Amino acid sequence: MTGKAVIVTGGASGIGRALVTCLVEQGHQVLVADIDDKQGHALVQELTGGINPVYPCVAYTHCDVTDPTAFAELFEHGTKLFGAVHALVNNAGIAQTHEFWLAPQWIKTIQVNLTATIAGTTAAIQHFTSQGIAGSVVNISSIAGLIPFEGEPVYAATKAGVLNFTRSLKMYAPLMGVRVNAVCPAFVDTPMLTKLSQLSPAHEASLAQTNKLSPTDVVDSIIRCMDDTTLAGDILVVPYNRAPTTLGVDSNVIGLLTDSLPPMPTPTAAEAPPRAKVELKS
Ligand SMILES: NC(=O)c1ccc[n+]([C@@H]2O[C@H](COP(=O)([O-])OP(=O)(O)OC[C@H]3O[C@@H](n4cnc5c(N)ncnc54)[C@H](O)[C@@H]3O)[C@@H](O)[C@H]2O)c1
Repeated sequence: MTGKAVIVTGGASGIGRALVTCLVEQGHQVLVADIDDKQGHALVQELTGGINPVYPCVAYTHCDVTDPTAFAELFEHGTKLFGAVHALVNNAGIAQTHEFWLAPQWIKTIQVNLTATIAGTTAAIQHFTSQGIAGSVVNISSIAGLIPFEGEPVYAATKAGVLNFTRSLKMYAPLMGVRVNAVCPAFVDTPMLTKLSQLSPAHEASLAQTNKLSPTDVVDSIIRCMDDTTLAGDILVVPYNRAPTTLGVDSNVIGLLTDSLPPMPTPTAAEAPPRAKVELKS
């Protein structure tokens, strides 16, 4: 990936912050979209040294991903700043404790982690196809989307949703010319885990004993999803102490369902979002 313009939601902290820093160091342009204005502005200040050129390498914008107009505005803003946008990373996320029955904000967890990821992907597909850009979307799921996660059932549901949403887009990739992939990190040492520990003593005790990646350990896999044109509708798991690996659908599940599944319809050009008449440019 050389000289691309990337939108990173939740880019002011944790994994997003590490990604933004790495992308800028590699010569890309980044629009950081977050609700944490203090951290967002501080990151831009840190990366630019306070210099505000006409053509910035990094900019911050306040954006609540649950706002219905958020992504249309982000793509418009990014295009004005950088001339084009080539990738969106749906990274913004919030945690939720197991006592979801005591906390009505579980709905918010679905809105931020799942609904906004679908909204962002939808806006990206519309934007990239209308602009004739072979764009890329990277959705941040979690190992909590792969296995039962008693500590955070609602969070786990959102991350499983992100995962299967992404996988289900695989066959549309050639039609859309847009690749959508997801990354499933193991536990990562970020402010999200600190907040979770503060919410519940049970989490605090268990997280204290959990092996954790550093945010930078996840960055390469996100960039690989953007760069590697063989990946579309794929899931990249980032485990602790092992190499990141793409994950197929469990063959036991496929075997079990052999006689249950209808033939999958092949998407036709008529079902694809309208493309610009220009040649796709990567
Ligand atoms: N930390 C982990 O162990 C871990 C593991 C697997 C996956 N993840 C996922 O990685 C992503 C990043 O998490 P993190 O650990 O870096 O957390 P973090 O709390 O450090 O960063 C999350 C960022 O998202 C922003 N955000 C929250 N709600 C938002 C909204 N409505 N609109 C815009 N921005 C919003 C926050 O302000 C924050 O800057 C999340 O999707 C998370 O679920 C985290």
